[in-house]
Amino acid sequence: MRGDADAAVPVARLRGVGKEYPRGATSVRALSDVTLDVAPGELLAVMGASGSGKSTLLAILGCLDRPTAGEYRLGGEPVAALDDRALSRLRNRTIGFVFQSFHLIPELTVLENVETPLLYGDVPQPSWRARASRSLERVGIAHRADHRPAELSGGEAQRAAIARALVTEPRLLLADEPTGNLDSATGEEIADLLTSLPEEGRTVILVTHNEALAARARRLVRLKDGRIVSDTSVAGGR
Ligand SMILES: Nc1ncnc2c1ncn2[C@@H]1O[C@H](COP(=O)(O)OP(=O)(O)O)[C@@H](O)[C@H]1O
Ligand SMILES: [Mg+2]
Repeated sequence: MRGDADAAVPVARLRGVGKEYPRGATSVRALSDVTLDVAPGELLAVMGASGSGKSTLLAILGCLDRPTAGEYRLGGEPVAALDDRALSRLRNRTIGFVFQSFHLIPELTVLENVETPLLYGDVPQPSWRARASRSLERVGIAHRADHRPAELSGGEAQRAAIARALVTEPRLLLADEPTGNLDSATGEEIADLLTSLPEEGRTVILVTHNEALAARARRLVRLKDGRIVSDTSVAGGR
């Protein structure tokens, strides 16, 4: 029964969320009155001009930062009630991140990079290697496990970053411009990979400037000056 009840709870639920950053004597309002429910297994694209608040929204959704107004519930849990330690535990168990510039650690092998999120979680150490290998197989670069990031193509590096994001089996994957540093053919391959993840029951929120990538998502949220200006369902998306 608990499973049924959980399925009805949004993975992410924002109510009137705002974010102000201090700047000198004043402050910058990066988000205003953002209200959004994201359902389990949903693929959501977020678009908007540079400076419209997309990365700030992902930082809040990903519990890297806290709202300065409104309420955020992650899987039903009000994040404001959690101290920083509890919040990072929840983040580690629930969320995977993918960035435009991969953020792989150059000194580590691909396999070791993929293992790193497990250092901070509850998965027992003896199973790390098998988990990381499985994650690399999932994204199609198991043959690159022992290479260093510098030896990878851009597409392989992003696959490694996606494998790292998936190694904890997160319910929610957040991707900030994941194809921004890739040529268009490679970007398409990465888009195929990311848009296939909801089939595994994962929720994916994708920030992108790329209209073609955004069009693959059934739901598209547009931000302008920190506000949601449209939230539409698109025919043909996943
Ligand atoms: N850490 C920060 N400190 C101060 N201002 C910030 C910070 N992060 C973002 N901003 C400001 O918040 C606004 C939204 O930024 P951001 O979320 O990065 O937008 P986007 O990702 O859409 O380009 C911008 O005006 C930006 O300058
Ligand atoms: Mg940004």
